[in-house]
Amino acid sequence: MNSLIHARGLVKRFGDFTAVDGIDVDVRAGEAFGFLGPNGAGKSSTMRMIGCVSPPSGGELRILGMDPRRDGPAIRARLGVCPQLDNLDPELTVLENLVTYARFFGIPRRAARERAAELLDFVQLGERAGSKVDPLSGGMKRRLTIARAMINQPDLVLLDEPTTGLDPQARHLVWERLFRLKQQGVTLVLTTHYMDEAEQLCDRLVVMDGGRIVAEGSPRELIEAHSTREVVELRFPTDDQGTYAGKLEGIGERVEVLPDRVLLYVGDGDGALTEVHRRSLSPSSSLVRRSSLEDVFLRLTGRTLVD
Ligand SMILES: Nc1ncnc2c1ncn2[C@@H]1O[C@H](COP(=O)(O)OP(=O)(O)OP(=O)(O)O)[C@@H](O)[C@H]1O
Ligand SMILES: [Mg+2]
Repeated sequence: MNSLIHARGLVKRFGDFTAVDGIDVDVRAGEAFGFLGPNGAGKSSTMRMIGCVSPPSGGELRILGMDPRRDGPAIRARLGVCPQLDNLDPELTVLENLVTYARFFGIPRRAARERAAELLDFVQLGERAGSKVDPLSGGMKRRLTIARAMINQPDLVLLDEPTTGLDPQARHLVWERLFRLKQQGVTLVLTTHYMDEAEQLCDRLVVMDGGRIVAEGSPRELIEAHSTREVVELRFPTDDQGTYAGKLEGIGERVEVLPDRVLLYVGDGDGALTEVHRRSLSPSSSLVRRSSLEDVFLRLTGRTLVD
């Protein structure tokens, strides 16, 4: 069995509320695995069970071949964790945050300092080693938390929303660093709201909604299974895009009405657009694009991920 994470019927309850409702997951060594889902889907609850900081309420869970109920400390020693909210110590400098954290793993001080300096270079924070945490930008704090997660040279790194709230440059830098870690053979498990992040980073992912897994596969497999090759986006000069839905019927596989536009799910976007014009419909704008994970998400959960 080559799974670093093996879950069957995994459940997390808070009182009589079920946050994670019987999920099956297998994460293999060396892959980047994603949990994609809207607010409240149960992503963090799942990550916290995997991180051995929150006991499962039911089901089977094995991490690195061990049982979190019994072997929590042994598992945590081999995990790197980047929680949803940064919990860096604002009293300490950037470097001291790493060195102090290294002590929890019993890493001797000198080795810890060396390792910390390497990691700060890796996340491009070498020049900030002596500064306090508070004045760092959101992106820098995130990178520092990622560096901290690597201090014990973990086999498995858990990243709960590694790039939420970061600007585009900061996100790309984090993506690039995570990609480098993956190339070094580190297994990554991450959660995200962002389709482009999942498409960029994840070899495989599951879409969660309401505590359940509603789809799983590689980004490409998910798109093939749940969407069409192309999507045509039409905007009509009206307050109610829905008035046009009937007139578009039969073009492609499916018509979806959103508040600001109508989506046509089709194999051939240009052909579909020709048919739209043949029916004497004049959208104020039209766009043909390839299907994305966002379309899959919309199909599966009935809403967009924009929050
Ligand atoms: N300690 C707790 N006590 C009670 N309810 C909780 C607790 N932690 C989470 N929940 C509830 O469980 C559900 C799932 O929460 P969770 O944090 O796992 O979602 P998420 O997918 O990580 O969402 P987000 O994208 O907002 O981070 C939510 O409805 C949340 O309110
Ligand atoms: Mg969360």
